[in-house]
Amino acid sequence: MDDDALIAEAKRVLKLNDLGGWTRPTATLYPHQWLWDSCFTAIGLRQYDVRRAQQEIRTLLEGQWKNGMVPFIRFSDATTYHAGPELWRSDVSPDCPPDVRTTGVSQPPMITEAVVQIGAKLAPAKRLAWYREMYPALARYHEWWYRDRDLERSGLVTVVHSWETGLDNNPAWMEILHRHALSPKLRTLDKSKTLIKLLEMRRRDTSVVPAKQRMSTLDLMAFYDQVRSLRRMRYDDARIMRRHKLLIKDLVINSVLIHATHLLGGIADEIGEKLPPHTAQARTRGADVLERLWHEEDGVYYNLDTRTGQLVRVLCHASIIPLYAGTLPEARVQALLRHVHDPEEFATPYPMASAPLNSSYFNPQRYWQGPSWMMTNWLLWQGYLRNGCDEEAETLRRASLRMIRDNGMHEYYSPIDGKPAGAPDFAFSAALALDMLAAERRIAS
Ligand code: GLC
Repeated sequence: MDDDALIAEAKRVLKLNDLGGWTRPTATLYPHQWLWDSCFTAIGLRQYDVRRAQQEIRTLLEGQWKNGMVPFIRFSDATTYHAGPELWRSDVSPDCPPDVRTTGVSQPPMITEAVVQIGAKLAPAKRLAWYREMYPALARYHEWWYRDRDLERSGLVTVVHSWETGLDNNPAWMEILHRHALSPKLRTLDKSKTLIKLLEMRRRDTSVVPAKQRMSTLDLMAFYDQVRSLRRMRYDDARIMRRHKLLIKDLVINSVLIHATHLLGGIADEIGEKLPPHTAQARTRGADVLERLWHEEDGVYYNLDTRTGQLVRVLCHASIIPLYAGTLPEARVQALLRHVHDPEEFATPYPMASAPLNSSYFNPQRYWQGPSWMMTNWLLWQGYLRNGCDEEAETLRRASLRMIRDNGMHEYYSPIDGKPAGAPDFAFSAALALDMLAAERRIAS
């Protein structure tokens, strides 16, 4: 695909998934509105249709809860998704708005970044109006993270489900899940090949995408279990922080939130608002709080398991994502680049492998355990630029576009040969390809 064909194809995919004011990730697997997918979609859309990009964020915020939380799915009426409203039953929480059905946890808070990226395309007066319109919801959302998900006021928020990270079955989370969050029932199930086979036959996702490209059935059952546990606590964060088994200071959520808070501070200054108290404090701490997640010997960041107080020493690309959080100390950046350029870890022809090559988890086609994804590629691209790694940024941008040109807009790709995997016609891949292309040429409406 040359540039013009790529632009036409990306616009086709975005139109195909446009359900009137909001965009589904893709037709076959994901018929609802997802939080960070919609943000990435808006970041691409703003390159040729700013109004539509604004609408994407407005519809997303219709799902916001009374406590400020923005759930990671706002459900449509479609009934084909496996973890739908009947699993989540968001109405068990008094915070859930009455007329929408949603999940009970959030996702990497990309909304503020999307709002600012859209703002950059607006004339000054319109940008201020846009910021004024968005600010109250954004401020409530940030404050919810810092107030309700960081009770110990460490500056790092706690994440309670792997779906919340956006990187579903990533190795660092699966390690913890298997270590201390599998119910006795699931441990027995793990031993029964026949039962697993039976459950596999009932899965909807694997009738669309080959099973070897999705997460394992055991992991999926464990994900459902974790939702039921959160649901029993009525998604009440105070109870969850006391009793839940998975309480992780997660690298992706915290990196995205730290940068988002920096951006929200800028918005507040521009429109003359004062950040709410916990968010204001987080703004002053900036990316310094990530030091708690640094592992000196391994020269990399890791998730922290709050139940043990230990870093989870399992490497995956989330360990490099703090580059997105802000300008890191030069020594940290250089140490991270050593992993990026290590041929046994992340130096693959198509960056960025979601698990290192030498990991026992690595499989080039299995979901978040090897493949390259446009979402995390975009975060790393921005992170490289922010930290003066211009060469890495450009290599990643070009390789990402090559992957798309050669294969179309898929969910994810093999980092070895760029071959596509997962579902086709994916909105965020289309949108982010447009955004990366716009770094070298204008995308006309
Ligand atoms: C999968 C991905 C997640 C994404 C969702 C919809 O769950 O892991 O990041 O938001 O699909 O595309």
